[in-house]
Amino acid sequence: MNLTDDIQLQELKNAFISFYGNSEEKIIFAASPARINIIGEHIDYNGGLVLPASVNLYLRIALRKRRDKKIIYRSVKSEKVFEFELDGNLAFDEEKDYANYLNGMFLFLKERGLKADTGFELLITSDIPQGSGISSSAALELCFGKIISHAFDFEINGVELAKTGRRVENEFLGLKSGIMDQFSIAMGKKNQALLLDTSSLEYEYIPLETEPYRIVIMNSNKPRKLTESKYNERKEECEKALAFLQKEKDINFLCDLSVSDFKKLEQGLASNLGEKFARRVRHCVTEMDRVRRSAEALKNKDLKLLGDYLNQSHLSLKDDYEVTGKELDALFFAAVKEKSCIGARMTGAGFSGCAIAIVHKDGFEDFAERVGKEYTEQTGFTASFFACQASDGVSVISV
Ligand code: GLA
Repeated sequence: MNLTDDIQLQELKNAFISFYGNSEEKIIFAASPARINIIGEHIDYNGGLVLPASVNLYLRIALRKRRDKKIIYRSVKSEKVFEFELDGNLAFDEEKDYANYLNGMFLFLKERGLKADTGFELLITSDIPQGSGISSSAALELCFGKIISHAFDFEINGVELAKTGRRVENEFLGLKSGIMDQFSIAMGKKNQALLLDTSSLEYEYIPLETEPYRIVIMNSNKPRKLTESKYNERKEECEKALAFLQKEKDINFLCDLSVSDFKKLEQGLASNLGEKFARRVRHCVTEMDRVRRSAEALKNKDLKLLGDYLNQSHLSLKDDYEVTGKELDALFFAAVKEKSCIGARMTGAGFSGCAIAIVHKDGFEDFAERVGKEYTEQTGFTASFFACQASDGVSVISV
């Protein structure tokens, strides 16, 4: 990507100058993709395998150093301006909205050795729908982490940047999420999916060759805030189940259990902790198995088989893990009825947000129209549809 052929970057530059004026300091730019998760949901905090891909919806930041010690954050989407002092109070503050992601990243990068000797001003623009399950927040963390490191000549690799982003979620914002989103955005590659083992952070790229199908993002357009959702509750349920199962079996994570191990332990788990806990673990264990099989199916370019695993994953997230909700279920059931669709599922944390579907390219228009219509009839919301492509991870853009 470069400035001349990216209209949005050109617009960002113009908006930046109209907000902040001209200066001798150089404006630098960075862009971060969104991510979808093809399969492997809610198991990145259970030592599981996940199969995300970074995709071509972008959050972009323009940043320029200042001569004084002021830090200024603006977004083209909002009138709000956040101002801080370089050595002032950057602690979490509910009122400070998206500035918390930036301040968290800034503080944790400073802990790792980033040295900022001047203030800076920045402007954000994004076409990643916010709070929709395709990682608008990880995109913000990583894009800022990348650009601020570049601005102050701080060397940090993608994996460490991803870990820092996760720390912001876990320790600054209080969301006990896994590393999938940040890792995928930091390490994503064009036309590739990323198979990540969250217990070891070992990973491999798998070509995402879907011809003649497209991966369609279906946005329920019912946003949610994860910090207010049942996300942390699910994590706590898993921790409780793990503590119980560790008395029976030598495991570090729920995803260390095989499906057959689980079947032997299921009864005991249900009678001691309750049937709900057995369902939560069943999801984790079966999802892990589906990710392994899905990775093989993708390697063999067997998209129909991959589509079957996607469907199974959605149903498991609906019935066993209970994170889909009315809107995502409506999208799923409407999508899988369509002839052009060979598989669908919610993606990301769930509780509304986005789903994905594998759809024949010739049927895309029809698919969007029919699924959209049925979805609106059932929920009253208007969905949007976007055929995405796997794209490179976060980067500073040379202009
Ligand atoms: C959110 C979290 C991820 C992951 C997914 C569910 O996106 O940030 O770490 O747990 O939900 O798979």
